[in-house]
Amino acid sequence: MRVSTERDEQAGIHGGWEGPVPRAALQTVPLYVPKPPQPRVGAESHRLFLNENPYPPLPSVIAVIAGAAAEINRYPEIAPTQLVARLAKHLDVPECHVVTGPGIMGIYQQISQAVLRPGDEIIYAWPSFEAYPIVTNVADCVAREVPLLGGRHDLAAMAAQVTTRTRAVFICNPNNPTGTVVSGSELEAFVADLPKTVLVVIDEAYAEFIPDHRGPSGVDLYRKHQNVVVLRTFSKAYGLAGLRVGYGLAHELLADAFRKCAVPCGVSSIAVAAALKSLTLEDELFERVRKISLERDRLWKVLGVLGIDTPPSGANFLWLGVGSAAATLSAQLEAEGVMARLISGHGIRLTVGNERSNSHVEQVLTTIMAA
Ligand SMILES: Cc1ncc(COP(=O)(O)O)c(C=O)c1O
Repeated sequence: MRVSTERDEQAGIHGGWEGPVPRAALQTVPLYVPKPPQPRVGAESHRLFLNENPYPPLPSVIAVIAGAAAEINRYPEIAPTQLVARLAKHLDVPECHVVTGPGIMGIYQQISQAVLRPGDEIIYAWPSFEAYPIVTNVADCVAREVPLLGGRHDLAAMAAQVTTRTRAVFICNPNNPTGTVVSGSELEAFVADLPKTVLVVIDEAYAEFIPDHRGPSGVDLYRKHQNVVVLRTFSKAYGLAGLRVGYGLAHELLADAFRKCAVPCGVSSIAVAAALKSLTLEDELFERVRKISLERDRLWKVLGVLGIDTPPSGANFLWLGVGSAAATLSAQLEAEGVMARLISGHGIRLTVGNERSNSHVEQVLTTIMAA
């Protein structure tokens, strides 16, 4: 008996496989991310390829984590009500607008399941966060990638890509990997001109690192526009990447839909405890953010003096826009213990580390550029 054309096609592709076949859309999704840079054997290396916070958790956060660990025989809440309430108060938004997930990545999955349909078009800048093509392809949607202009979002070109099939626009602000920032007024004008049925996801994973950051522009926009969702995380400024906790703000209809698609108990009780504690420690944590930002600006000047094309960054990383020389430079850096992220053919993304890492980077780049 014939089951389906897709099944036959897939069985062919999977070499006579007779079992259940995955969706055809998944063929365009890479199974592995490119091989990460490797640490040197017997010499110091600096892990600067995942935009992690270089500082370990504060001792009081570690104590809370240890306390919560003593109760992990229990399930966490289906959704973390205390954290939702705390975030709602913190950001002055209704509790029903706050969605949580295991990092922003978890929330992208919720958004995808809740609103994306096969064939929908999704617009985003490129290069931008590497998860965007994955989210798009897994959902069997069509990517409309709009090249950055001078390292920045080309909002006019993005607006020109909107059609009746456009379902969502992803805006990474600051942009990963270039660190460039779209201002609140630029975003406001862009969103105001979009059809109201187009979902705008403003990914503010690095918002706290924007110079003179005073309350994120994405939050202001979400307050005004029902089609705007803003995403934030405890992974970067709060230094809790390993615990997987992030949140989104959306109007109730969308927020409810995202919640319906969330993995129940998807944020662990340890992550909730650490996030709640961290919200009480923002003075200390943001002092670290300030330190990282100062180091970023210092390194940015060094790169400029070395003649490397680097846009000013509002995040915890810098973009070395070296184009076709990226692979060679990346290999040279790796050989010297600088583990940065190669974006092939475009450039290198370098996370700002602690002072020791940054001095090492400065010394290595100075030597390479002099040669
Ligand atoms: C733009 C952007 N969004 C989201 C994430 C992932 O955040 P989370 O750790 O909360 O899943 C990253 C991580 O590198 C990122 O660069």
